[in-house]
Amino acid sequence: MSANNEGFIHIDDLDQHAADTHRPTIAERQRVDYREIAKEVGRLGEGKSYFIRTHGCQMNEHDTEIMSGMLEEMGYRPAKDMLDADFILYNTCAVRENAEVKVWGNLGTLKPLKAKNPNLIIGLCGCMAQEDVVRERIRVTHPHVDIVFGTHNVHVLPSLIEQAHHSKETIFDVWDAAHEGTIENLPKVRKDDVRAWVNIQYGCNKFCTYCIVPFTRGEERSRLPEDVVEEIKQLAEEGYKEITLLGQNVNDYGLDLGNVDFADLLELVAQVEGIERIRFTTSNPWNFTDKLIDTIARHKKIPNYIHLPVQSGSSQVLRRMKRGYTREEYLDLVNRIRTRIPDVALTTDIIVGFPGETEEQFQETVSLLEEVRYEGAYTFVYSPRAGTPATRLQDDVTEAEKKQRLYRLNEVQDRISFEQNQKLVGQVLEVLIDGKSKTNAEVLQARSESNKLVHLTGADELVGQLVHVKITEAKTWYLRGEALPQGVQV
Ligand code: SAH
Ligand code: SF4
Ligand code: F3S
Repeated sequence: MSANNEGFIHIDDLDQHAADTHRPTIAERQRVDYREIAKEVGRLGEGKSYFIRTHGCQMNEHDTEIMSGMLEEMGYRPAKDMLDADFILYNTCAVRENAEVKVWGNLGTLKPLKAKNPNLIIGLCGCMAQEDVVRERIRVTHPHVDIVFGTHNVHVLPSLIEQAHHSKETIFDVWDAAHEGTIENLPKVRKDDVRAWVNIQYGCNKFCTYCIVPFTRGEERSRLPEDVVEEIKQLAEEGYKEITLLGQNVNDYGLDLGNVDFADLLELVAQVEGIERIRFTTSNPWNFTDKLIDTIARHKKIPNYIHLPVQSGSSQVLRRMKRGYTREEYLDLVNRIRTRIPDVALTTDIIVGFPGETEEQFQETVSLLEEVRYEGAYTFVYSPRAGTPATRLQDDVTEAEKKQRLYRLNEVQDRISFEQNQKLVGQVLEVLIDGKSKTNAEVLQARSESNKLVHLTGADELVGQLVHVKITEAKTWYLRGEALPQGVQV
């Protein structure tokens, strides 16, 4: 039997499940093992240092951890300062124009460093590298960049560095599509000792009309559940307490594998001993099944917190964005979630000033915030991205008006976030202590179930532990609290 009475897979029955259901097994699946590639990687980085500047989402942050892992296996050590590094890499984001503007500015300032250190290698990777216009601009105006590679071939970095040692020309190695299947056993130097990211799915098939991600990250591909579980078991052994499962649409996990879905994966991960918290991002409102809601509700290890990007409160705008749901359908989903998980915390993403958005349509977004009462929202002004369908839509809203809308929306959400936080004063929350606060070494920094930042005083030994905290003060962006003595029943 590969599924229990509730239809879920047991962690020890994964092979049997694959055999019973014709889902690919590790042997059948196209899988490149990085360990095989690594055999050819020399120790070219011995005595040298590297510096990676990362822009963009958690996926890029995690790619940086992977590339750091590869570089350190080559002998490179992290440089304290970018100016001292022998290898400087920009891991870029293309989602909005301002993310790109920063990179162009910074790349320009690197030119003089080459004169000081002729052996310096400069690289550019990530989502910008997948854009033709970006590569053309590098060719013409930034020939001091040595290597350019994309999101699909992060694993070839060591060989590109080797080639750069022998080449005076910029090396462009950007793939149009990913290797079929996935690359496994990638090395990682993780940024944090308590919380870890785990890729479960790459790419995106949704093609929302404003978004460049499907073009830069390619088609949706899921990792095999066996590979995901194995990585998480190792993390548990290394003492990690919290993991975040990463994908652009985690709800679609498994669609390309067959007979395994995101709820099944959560169920499997919840069986890994030692991991106390399982987070995931991003959950698109598409394909948010009752089975998934039920799985989140049933497991204490899965926090009652969902980041559920809505983008707009207007059904007409949502249609033009090709989001695949109406305002009513989104609110119905929120309702289904809240019925099953009454204390759920929700956050969202919003785009204001989508082409042709009227004042009334903008007001519908404001009213949606008031209706849902999110704990927080990431809000953006629409940024036209070359090659995306929305750039062809008529847009008569001025930039000044768009900025004004963003400002007005943020005022509303800040008030709601503050009010939501105030409701927590006097309550006891379970928090995971991450480490010391970045601004005050006397203060510990923790995250609540709903991912709220909590500051508290306490002994350093508490780092990495789940602790009960009584909230004493609420701000818009964080909470203050006092740790209850351990063992106190709540
Ligand atoms: N896969 C996630 C979103 C990833 S991109 C999802 O669908 O929920 C993160 C956020 O960037 C999006 O939710 C959206 O709010 C914002 N974004 C994407 N493209 C944008 C654009 N062209 N202009 C402004 N914001 C954009
Ligand atoms: Fe972009 Fe839409 Fe895919 Fe999210 S679901 S990454 S917004 S295309
Ligand atoms: Fe940016 Fe690419 Fe992530 S465009 S948001 S780094 S997937």
